[in-house]
Amino acid sequence: MLSYRHSYHAGNHADVLKHTVQSLIIEALKEKDKPFLYLDTHAGAGRYLLSGEQAERTGEYLEGIARVWQQDDLPAELEPYITAVSHFNRSGQLRYYPGSPLIARQLLRDFDKLHMTELHPSDYPLLRQEFQKDERAKVLKADGYQQIKAQLPPQSRRGLILIDPPYEMKTDYQDVVKSIQEGYKRFATGVYALWYPVVLRQNIKRLVHELEETGIRRILQIELAVLPDSDRRGMSASGMIVINPPWKLEQQMNNVMPWLHKTLVPSGHGHTLVKWITPE
Ligand SMILES: C[S@@+](CC[C@H](N)C(=O)[O-])C[C@H]1O[C@@H](n2cnc3c(N)ncnc32)[C@H](O)[C@@H]1O
Repeated sequence: MLSYRHSYHAGNHADVLKHTVQSLIIEALKEKDKPFLYLDTHAGAGRYLLSGEQAERTGEYLEGIARVWQQDDLPAELEPYITAVSHFNRSGQLRYYPGSPLIARQLLRDFDKLHMTELHPSDYPLLRQEFQKDERAKVLKADGYQQIKAQLPPQSRRGLILIDPPYEMKTDYQDVVKSIQEGYKRFATGVYALWYPVVLRQNIKRLVHELEETGIRRILQIELAVLPDSDRRGMSASGMIVINPPWKLEQQMNNVMPWLHKTLVPSGHGHTLVKWITPE
């Protein structure tokens, strides 16, 4: 079943959190003058028109990137992310939202590599077209979970693996844990960043518990809730679970979360969280 289209949700509060974390990890990997692989297992279409029919229908970006875009007191931690978004909106008017592959494309260096997988028959060709002329990039119409096995460890022995499934199938909650285990067996020093939605809190509790059970150490959880937990209202929060986070990430997220929460949730509902699931 592939009914999910990210174009309905691009630039929402969950994307703001996800892409902030993604950008900070990429910037940290760039601190060493050595190449790395960016592997995006569920890459989406790459570019989203915010005035398009799908984004306008939900208007989710209005409560996400549009709120951040209007501010002139951006914290330093948001700079790489917003610089990437600005590249696609040079007039200053917010028209396009770059998904994770295009954010990576903007931030990576000439000698880094980007490998992306996307299964949707409409989104895959759009993504492939975006990267037609980029010699660093490989775009595959393939199952993202399989690619974790197929592509790790990277030749460079350094990398960020972004795992961002739509969770339209319940099995995604188990598949992400299995694929992290598979990846970790092959490449234990990689940085793994897993996105999750909070729709039913019990699914996330179980996910966190299963990650604890793997025995993997250094797992950081970052979450931003726009509403209290509920079983009726759809997605009330989203988060990123990062394995082997760069050493500065915890502090950077502690710095920026109050600003993000205040900006994205003017009502003050919800909460933020930066906490170790398993420390060293
Ligand atoms: C949440 S969206 C990705 C958004 C993107 N990572 C971003 O941040 O811009 C999830 C994508 O995964 C794709 N997808 C679903 N199952 C997949 C699978 N098994 N392998 C690869 N892609 C898959 C969907 O078609 C959808 O485009």
